Amino acid sequence: MPKQLEIAQIGDPILRDVARGVGNVLDAEIKELVANMIYTSKQAGGVGISAPQVRRSIRLFIISSEPNPRYPDAPRVNPIAIFNPRNFLGSTERIDGWEGCLSVPGIMGIVPRHKWINVTYTNQDGQEVVTTFEGLLARVFQHELDHIDGITFLERADPRSLSTREELLKNLKSQAKSS
Ligand code: NI
Repeated sequence: MPKQLEIAQIGDPILRDVARGVGNVLDAEIKELVANMIYTSKQAGGVGISAPQVRRSIRLFIISSEPNPRYPDAPRVNPIAIFNPRNFLGSTERIDGWEGCLSVPGIMGIVPRHKWINVTYTNQDGQEVVTTFEGLLARVFQHELDHIDGITFLERADPRSLSTREELLKNLKSQAKSS
């Protein structure tokens, strides 16, 4: 059975470290970590989680998008484990979107991200994958990639957009009423 892992909270120095590359993706301990990260992200209502957030400073993250109370419009995609992402190429066009983070509970902000990205990574079977992501997956990928470089969405967000989830929902409702 997968375990729910403790999630490092903002202020924890591990969230500021540049994580090191993963040597053996096929290691049994790494497989267990991936299963626990997928489980932890789902339990917390996340659409992704990075290894540093569960206190492992290695270049690994999960994208696990499905509709949930935090992201009702998220597409349903089987969890993808991304190891050692490289050759990142982002579109010139950027899109603003709301983001939150399991390590920054309750806070949302508007973050500009590349509309699409080309990347290479190693998958859970140790194979090299060259692919393109767009939409929410491109956004989640960029958010998680930042985590393994010690960066959170707070540094990327428009500071004047920062809001608690409660206030954001309240304001969206009153905007819908007045328009
Ligand atoms: Ni995050």
